[in-house]
Amino acid sequence: MLAKIINLPKFEDPRGNLSFIEENNHIPFKIERTYWIYDVPGGEVRGGHAFKKQQEFIVALSGSFDVVIDNGKEKQTYSLNRSYYGLYVPAGLWRQMQNFSTNSLALVLSSTHYNSNDYIYEYQQFLKYKAAL
Ligand code: TYD
Repeated sequence: MLAKIINLPKFEDPRGNLSFIEENNHIPFKIERTYWIYDVPGGEVRGGHAFKKQQEFIVALSGSFDVVIDNGKEKQTYSLNRSYYGLYVPAGLWRQMQNFSTNSLALVLSSTHYNSNDYIYEYQQFLKYKAAL
């Protein structure tokens, strides 16, 4: 298990369902940033990179997509398609998002502010980084 699916609270109601996320409660970090990915054209791939420090939690608020997680030795694909669970991605993993459905909306909660120095953009560099840990 490279990343972890976390089920969120779900209040089912004839008026519509409700879910929520509390930092350091449902997810194991403090939320410093929230961003979302939307209007992804068919066939596009997002996020082919790794983070040195950033942890994140990804939810498919609408539609569906796959998150491929790779620790340099093995890969696992997680399909996200409901808004009452998400994927916790610890730091130091290569991750890619793909197979976005039409009108999908990916919510990403991050443990850090945006910092391009935290990114590893090249896969070979990622493998070196993992080997040196
Ligand atoms: P990037 O993380 O490379 O997108 P993806 O991983 O989905 O392919 O970010 C795309 C651009 O947006 C890049 O120029 C940096 C900018 N950006 C911010 O300024 N702040 C943010 O919080 C994020 C996630 C991206």
